[in-house]
Amino acid sequence: MNDASDRELELVADEIRACTACPLHRSARQAVPGDGTGDSGIFFLGEAPGYHEDVQGRPFVGAAGQFLDELLAGIGLDRRKVFITNVVRHRPPENRDPLPDEIAACDMWLHRHLAVLRPRVIVTLGRHAMGKFFPGESISRIHGKPRRSTDGLPIFPVYHPAAALHQPALREALVADFRALAAYLATPAPTPEAEKKPAEQITLFG
Ligand code: URA
Repeated sequence: MNDASDRELELVADEIRACTACPLHRSARQAVPGDGTGDSGIFFLGEAPGYHEDVQGRPFVGAAGQFLDELLAGIGLDRRKVFITNVVRHRPPENRDPLPDEIAACDMWLHRHLAVLRPRVIVTLGRHAMGKFFPGESISRIHGKPRRSTDGLPIFPVYHPAAALHQPALREALVADFRALAAYLATPAPTPEAEKKPAEQITLFG
C-alpha cells in the first residue's frame, strides 16, 4: 500500500476512536478500528471485538485470532498484508451479539475503509458480516464461494473462526473455505469486459 493510503487509514482509525454513534463506546475500553494493509487486496470483516481485542485495541488477537492467523498462514497469506476489521468497532457487553442498530451505526466506517482500500475481495467471517451483504441468507448455504453483493462488491463468505474453534465439522469446513479462497485468489481478477458478459458466462461468482 502507498503512504497516502496508510495515512488515510490512520485518519479513519482516529475518527473511529472518537466515534460515539452507538452506545457501545460507553461500555468498551476503547475502539478497535482495524489492522493491516491493503497490500494483498484482501479485506476481512469479522463480527465484534471481544475481551482481548478490547484490551489491546486490535482485531482478532485472542483465540479466534490465533486460529485466523493459522488459516492465513495455511494458504500463504501474511496477516500484515491483509486488512482486518469488524462490523462493530467497540466490544458489546459480555460479548453479546451486536444489535442491528449498532451494526447500522458502524456502517459508515466500513464504507470509509472500502473507499480507501478498494479491495479485490471482502471475506466475511461469520453470519453477522455475511448478513451485511446478503441479509436473510444462510451461511451454511453460501460459505466457501465467491458471490457479488447487490452493489457489485466481490464477497467471499466463510464461517467465523470462533464458531469453528470448538466444532470439528465447522473447522474442516473453514479450512476447506480458505483453500477455496486461495484458489479463487490464484485466478486472475476478472477484467471489466468479462464482468459485463451475461451471467451464465461468468463462472467465478455464484
Ligand atoms: N471475533 C471477531 O469477530 N472479531 C474480533 O476482532 C475478535 C473475535
